Amino acid sequence: MIYMDNSATTQPDPEVVQVMTDVMVNVFGNPSSLHDLGGKAERLLTQARKAIAHTLGVSPRSLVFTSGGTEANNLALKGVALQYQRRGRHFITTQVEHAAVFEVCRQLEQMGWEVTYLPVDEKGRVQPKDVEAAIRNDTVLVSVMHVNNEVGTVQPIPEIGRIVKKHPKVFFHVDAIQSFGKLPVRPQDWGVDLMSLSGHKFHGPKGVGCLYVREGVKLSPQLVGGGQEEGYRSGTQNVPGIAGLAKAAVLAEQKRRETAVRLSHWKQEMIRELAAKLANVQINGDTSTEGGSPHILSLSFPGLKSEVIVHSLEEQGVYVSSKSACSSKGEQPSRVLKAMGLDDQTAIGSIRISMGAQTTDEDVHQCMKALTKVIPPLQRMMKGASK
Ligand SMILES: Cc1ncc(COP(=O)(O)O)c(C=O)c1O
Repeated sequence: MIYMDNSATTQPDPEVVQVMTDVMVNVFGNPSSLHDLGGKAERLLTQARKAIAHTLGVSPRSLVFTSGGTEANNLALKGVALQYQRRGRHFITTQVEHAAVFEVCRQLEQMGWEVTYLPVDEKGRVQPKDVEAAIRNDTVLVSVMHVNNEVGTVQPIPEIGRIVKKHPKVFFHVDAIQSFGKLPVRPQDWGVDLMSLSGHKFHGPKGVGCLYVREGVKLSPQLVGGGQEEGYRSGTQNVPGIAGLAKAAVLAEQKRRETAVRLSHWKQEMIRELAAKLANVQINGDTSTEGGSPHILSLSFPGLKSEVIVHSLEEQGVYVSSKSACSSKGEQPSRVLKAMGLDDQTAIGSIRISMGAQTTDEDVHQCMKALTKVIPPLQRMMKGASK
């Protein structure tokens, strides 16, 4: 199997699996229990918090463990909305956010909040000046993702951070779920108040993630109960998952530079080779090494259907995806590609190839070989059918 769908999820690192197994077997106590077994679990949480905080250059007290990226985004947005509603009810985000931000904004709109969805250019990038122009007296939050999950475009987070900082009553949330482990992620240097991470995108476990909450920011908790995680997120913590998340974060950060150089080299090679060998292929997003993440490559084959390409590649043992995993079963063309100006036909014929720390040279070359094998006959068939 050639797994090239790492933006959907990654295979857990064997060291992560080992840590989680050890914790499940040996440290099954409830971290809130007073006895020694509870104390051991609590110490594991403390160590995990410290380790993850170190990878981000933040204080351990600023991390809230969640059930993954979706919950972290929900907690950030709804937590600010409800906590600061007297200050204002206006949010700013972009047209290309993941559903875990976009749909929360839609839900807030139904509850009476106003949301500005900023447009992006043809590479999928939002302009900082548009963020500046959209900020109003009643704006409470700006939410912009770091790396787009469908096309890999990197957003100008430090520039936006500087703009938001000029407005002390506006918070800045960043969904860094696709960038951690591939690009430097430094919330404090960038003026970020809230930032979401998810373990399964960097060879950690599924169903566990965290939200960075800058000290001084208050959130209205979305899950109430026993008051765990400083009251921000009640529920007995997923101790094995959190231990696995910390192990994965440390490994990802240790390997980050090497991973980025390797994947970036392969991405550029795929761009060159596929453009040379395939007819009528469009490469989406920012394809430069500075402006695009090293691991995501979005390709469009106008006239073809992405599901057909995905299944044809699967027959060759190569796994890729159409748009984002959560929306790939929908019939509609991708909202993100449409926001970048692609027409329906081009958007419908798009696939995403995404690499990870475990991707090998062999995977990349087998993937290119499979693409050059399956695409031309599909294009010929489509041409024949449209005559
Ligand atoms: C950019 C982005 N945000 C949020 C999420 C949701 O994260 P999770 O799957 O951990 O809920 C994803 C996952 O696809 C993502 O790519």
